[in-house]
Order: sequence, then C-alpha cells, then structure tokens
Amino acid sequence: MKHSTKVILISGFSLILVILAVFLFIKIRGNTANIFDRQKNEEIPSERLILGFSQIGSESAWRTRNTQSIIEAAEAKNIQLIFDDAQQKQENQLKAIRSFIVYQVDVIAFVPIVEDGWDNVLQEAKDAGIPVIIVDRQIKADPSLYAGFLGENGFEEGRSAAKFLVEKCAKDNRYRINIVEFSGTENSSVATGRAEGFRSVIKDDPRYNIIYSEDGDFLRSRGKEIMDKILVESKGQLMYKGHKIDAIYSHNDSMTLGLLDSLKQKQVPANDTIIISIDAEQKSIDALTQGKLNCVVECNPNLGPILMELVKQIASGKEIPKVTYMHESVFTENDDFSLYKPRGY
Ligand code: AHR
Repeated sequence: MKHSTKVILISGFSLILVILAVFLFIKIRGNTANIFDRQKNEEIPSERLILGFSQIGSESAWRTRNTQSIIEAAEAKNIQLIFDDAQQKQENQLKAIRSFIVYQVDVIAFVPIVEDGWDNVLQEAKDAGIPVIIVDRQIKADPSLYAGFLGENGFEEGRSAAKFLVEKCAKDNRYRINIVEFSGTENSSVATGRAEGFRSVIKDDPRYNIIYSEDGDFLRSRGKEIMDKILVESKGQLMYKGHKIDAIYSHNDSMTLGLLDSLKQKQVPANDTIIISIDAEQKSIDALTQGKLNCVVECNPNLGPILMELVKQIASGKEIPKVTYMHESVFTENDDFSLYKPRGY
C-alpha cells in the first residue's frame, strides 16, 4: 500500500503516538493555524482538514479496493487522513474513534463492523463537537448522534439477487426451489439487509425455501469450509439433508469464490444449481462469464470521492444528506459480456 505525507496507516496502540507525530508534522511544515480554534461555520481550506477513519480490516478484495478508494480520494483532495485498521474487532474501532476525539480531528468516519454498540462513543464525539460519517455499513443508533451515512443499500442488493432468481425460475419452469444461503458477518447491517431484502421477494411464494443458512463472515476460507461440510454430509452431491440444492445465494464474492474452490476441488458439477453472488469483483465477473455463476449484484466500494466531498461540506458547517446510497448495477448471464469494463478490484 502506498504511504505518503497525507496518509497515515496505523493500528492499535500506535494510534496515540501517530497522532502526536501528525501534530508535530503539521507544526513543522509551517501550518501555524490552530486547528482547534477555528469557527465551525468558516470555510476551511481542504489542506487543513483532518479526517480520522476507522476501517474494519481487509477481509475481501472488495474491502481492499474500498480502502484504496478512500486513501486515493483523501490524497486527491489534500485531506489529511489518519487511517486505522481495526483487524475485524469492534473494540479496536472504539479505541480508534476515541483517539480521534482526543486528537480533535475535524471529521470522523468509520465502517461499523456490526450494527450495535456505538451510542456511547458517538455521544462522546458529539460532545466534543466532531461530526461523524458512517461509511459502508449502517448502525442502530439515534440518528442525531451522527451526521450521515454513505454506502450501499444492502436490502436492495438482496432484492436484486432474489428478483434475478425468481425471473430465472419462471423461465425455467422450476417448481420447488431449495436455496442455501452463505451469509455475511452476523449482526452486520449488510448481512441483515441482504438477508431481509432477499426474503422480502420470495416470502409469499411457497416454492422458494431457504433450506440452510450459515454465517461465512464474508471470508473465502469460510465459504470453502461451509461448502466442504455440505459436500461431506451429502457424500459429494449438491444436496442438503436429502434435498437437492437448486440455488445458492452468497452475500459476497469472497465466500462465493471459496465455495467454487470447494466444488472444483471435489469435482462436483454445479451446472444445474443457480449461483448468485454480491460485490462484483473481477474474479466473480470472470466466473460469471465462464458460466460458473448466474448473477452478480454489484456492491460499489469506490466511495472515497463522495466521502471526501461530504467531509468538506460538513467541515464547512453545511448539513449533509442523512443517507447517501452508492449507485450499483446487476450483472447476469444474459448480458453481452463484451460490454463489460475491467472492475478494478
Ligand atoms: O460491507 C460490505 C461487504 O463487506 C462486502 O460485500 C464484502 O465483500 C465486505 O467484506
């Protein structure tokens, strides 16, 4: 990953030390304006803005691209980024956000790994007068505690996945459709949204049955593990407890690639099973064009530029929208693949 004077990558205990170093750096480079004395409504030149950002980790190619997008956009807009990698732990995120408050950054942004448990730290940020932007995943908290949310609409992604399934099954004249779900991190808003959105489309049609769902934590290794277990129990057939698996709905590409690894390793054909994934990273789009997947719903990780715009607006005292959803598309087996552009992640 690229290091520069504008981006600082840190984790855990080193955060306070880095914050002190950043403070010295600002003094040394001759920026004598006191970042703590500014008026909230005054237009602040972007090179003076400091954004504290807590990322959840690097569990997927999607996440890596999401991190790059934020770092690149901060550099492009001359925003000083203090970046913390929480290594998939909420407690690390809470520590990082508290450190950002101590340092009195201009704006805090974070990707909440799970939905609950943010009220106290958000109240602390509010008391310190530091606006907070929630990024990528949503939270369950009093909306007055944060300025706005920027990210995907997990519920709509789930609906898009189910709508593809329903249309395909109508065409194929399938009668009973047994679905296995590879779910994302428990208690994360995206896993909940993708599960609920999917169910909202199929719930009134008794032909659709989710016969098994397991938390694969958005990880390729877990996707493989879950499929390995299913194949061992069904003695190498795509079946669950005696029922044929007609469709697999996976909440992200990493788990999908993992389950494909398992099928390949055990030489189990999946031609008659509809496989739907979410994210649209290059490897899953390649799998779609090779006929290994039927549908990939995009989850757009490139939110850095919009985030920096929101940071600048909010730092100059303007309100930002409470919810900003990223634009997302759906890729299916019916597309003209020659029109696909490289995904970049
Ligand atoms: O929160 C977004 C999800 O998290 C993406 O779908 C997944 O790949 C990532 O790990």
